Amino acid sequence: MDETSRRGDLDALFRPRSIAVIGASSNPGKIGHEILRNIIEYGYGGEIYPVNPKHDSVLGLKCYPTVLDVPGDVDMGVVAIPAAYVPQVVDQLGAKGAKVAVVISSGFSEVGEVELEERLLRAAGKWGMRVLGPNIFGVAYTPGRLNATFGPRDVLPGSIAFITQSGALGIALMGWTITEGIGLSALVSVGNKSDVDDDDLLGWLSRDPETRVILIYMEGVKEGREFLEAASAASREKPIVVIKAGRSERGVKAASSHTGSLAGSDRVYDAVFRQSGVLRAYSVEQAFDWAMAFASGRVPRGDRTVIVTNGGGAGVLATDAAEMCGLRLIDPPPDLAAEFRRYMPPFGSAKNPVDLTGQASAREFEGAVAAALSHDSVDNVLVLYCETAVTDPEEIAAAVARAAGESDKPVAAMMMGGERSVRAMRLLRSRGVPAYPTPERTAESLCALVRYRELRDRGSAGV
Ligand code: COA
Repeated sequence: MDETSRRGDLDALFRPRSIAVIGASSNPGKIGHEILRNIIEYGYGGEIYPVNPKHDSVLGLKCYPTVLDVPGDVDMGVVAIPAAYVPQVVDQLGAKGAKVAVVISSGFSEVGEVELEERLLRAAGKWGMRVLGPNIFGVAYTPGRLNATFGPRDVLPGSIAFITQSGALGIALMGWTITEGIGLSALVSVGNKSDVDDDDLLGWLSRDPETRVILIYMEGVKEGREFLEAASAASREKPIVVIKAGRSERGVKAASSHTGSLAGSDRVYDAVFRQSGVLRAYSVEQAFDWAMAFASGRVPRGDRTVIVTNGGGAGVLATDAAEMCGLRLIDPPPDLAAEFRRYMPPFGSAKNPVDLTGQASAREFEGAVAAALSHDSVDNVLVLYCETAVTDPEEIAAAVARAAGESDKPVAAMMMGGERSVRAMRLLRSRGVPAYPTPERTAESLCALVRYRELRDRGSAGV
């Protein structure tokens, strides 16, 4: 199969016109039941066909004994039956004309059943059908209202595509993104990567207009050279953030027994990531922090940054973090400093960090942030808000979002405090402004934007 048709086939993975769920169970709590329920309740608009010889209907939909009995076309088959029966069902899916099989079932190469996985691949290959999995929790694509997973249902729409080699971690993070207010375009569990792997997904997602950043949790890649090429090409289009597990010696062993990955030498991975312009994050938190900043879609023109704060201490911590990761804190030129002074009491400071003081109101934050964003000497603005009893965090957040909305320059905001600040942070995120609970995370996320921009300018991203 040539590359173009291989890639083209992935349309059916993200935007299937119809889906058959093989192993659709009527028992709540069973995987085949929960996947079908998520597909229905998340609002998928195409035809849905439950397949199970035991039932006439499942969750209100007519059920078919085998996929061959389905009257209409089947684009995607989601397979949730015991491993031993999977190759036969995959063969039937191929015969039915399905373009992709999403194989949820475990019990293949990850437990030494290599021959069974090869049979599954042969069955699919005979029909030119692609296979996602096996040993996965499914796939979601929010622009197509598709949630074919047994994870949480209400995935928030957004522009981060998340590819995960770990199932349980992926499901957990899926729930976490919902509570954190982080929106996803796609979520793909790749499991054993028997066929569809990171390279294929990078190819498709880098061309997907709904995706602004691709985040990958990986334990290893099968073909280093192919990954390098795919990642180089994709990072030219959009940022790619990778968390690579298995950095320590014991971690490598753990990764190899988890997904059978060749976790390999960490130094080699480091070199591959660097060459291909991939940004390597060292924790899940950092990876999502950066991805959130990229999801805003704003590209910094440079590293010249102003910090606007209502707290001196937060300003100092952010200054340290910003300087250490490569942001340049400018001295505001006189006209800008005069503008800042309009939004602070006489005891405030118009130097950088710009200290509006603890009593700063929403109007003052809005004015100072807008002034910084509209000045030619500033590329990025870091906003720091420490919760006080005299101010309302959500009002401040709304004011910051308004100011940010008037500009295309990057803004990252910190909302630090209690419950009200957490709500304020979510409000900012929902309006496309990356928001964090600490000064360091805010500064470092802005740094990731600047670093990607520099990599791309130097030609390191994607060379
Ligand atoms: N065609 C259609 N339906 C079939 C079938 C076939 N060939 N063979 C079995 N079924 C039906 C069963 O009748 C059952 O329906 P019911 O609950 O209404 O009786 C349903 O499919 C499931 O089969 P069952 O034998 O009950 O298996 P299960 O639900 O206990 O387990 C898996 C199936 C796939 C969930 C299980 O084998 C598995 O692999 N679990 C691990 C999944 C996982 O963790 N993946 C990785 C996540 S990261």
